[in-house]
Amino acid sequence: MHKITIAIDGFSSTGKSTVAKRLAKALGYVYVDSGAMYRAVTFYAMQNGLIETNCFDKEQLIEQLDNIQINFKFNDDLGFAEVYLNGENVEKNIRTLQVSQFVSQVATVSEVREQLVLQQQNFGKHKGVVMDGRDIGTVVFPDAELKLFMTASAEKRALRRYDELLERGDDVSYEDVLTNVQTRDHIDSTREDSPLSMAKDAIKVDNSNLTLDEQFELIYKLALNKINECN
Ligand code: CDP
Repeated sequence: MHKITIAIDGFSSTGKSTVAKRLAKALGYVYVDSGAMYRAVTFYAMQNGLIETNCFDKEQLIEQLDNIQINFKFNDDLGFAEVYLNGENVEKNIRTLQVSQFVSQVATVSEVREQLVLQQQNFGKHKGVVMDGRDIGTVVFPDAELKLFMTASAEKRALRRYDELLERGDDVSYEDVLTNVQTRDHIDSTREDSPLSMAKDAIKVDNSNLTLDEQFELIYKLALNKINECN
């Protein structure tokens, strides 16, 4: 069966990764969380003193880019690939609100994007990949056969992310999470390099009022139709 490339873009906390993981599993495709790569670079910068209260040393980060190795390793128990930074599993460290508060700034740096985009394109060179992010359908895989653009109200998205963080045991407030969601949407959509925007040939999915199962069924059907079309 001919394999296709599936690009899922959209605003922060729209549940892209949840549906992308499930879709990849159902199709036997590889799932790549491109946001995890930007988060891992951000975590590196925080660990190495390149980000301190409101101060981000962009030049130093660019100089140190060659020291940053990001990989994914499939975890059989979890059923998805976890992200490793220089050989260390950082899957949990990169999901904190602190990392979320700096990641969009780091993601504006063209040198960072250039390096990560090359790696992302390499992950998808044999097709059979579901990748989610902000620029997948526009920059990473402009020829992807299926492009989705996910959206939902900022309040719904913040509530989902807040629940996720509480479940992990993080001590955060809903207001801080909402502010972060709105700030990231703004930075991601207005940055110069590869801003978040809907590709002309993308299908928009507003999941404000969809359950996870409803959303999955909708997207799974779209994927199967596209795969059949391509065979
Ligand atoms: O999980 P959530 O939707 O909140 O974000 P994410 O997918 O983990 O991405 C974190 C941040 O990385 C985004 O807010 C963007 O600033 C950046 N990003 C990007 O610029 N390009 C991508 N392809 C993926 C993420």
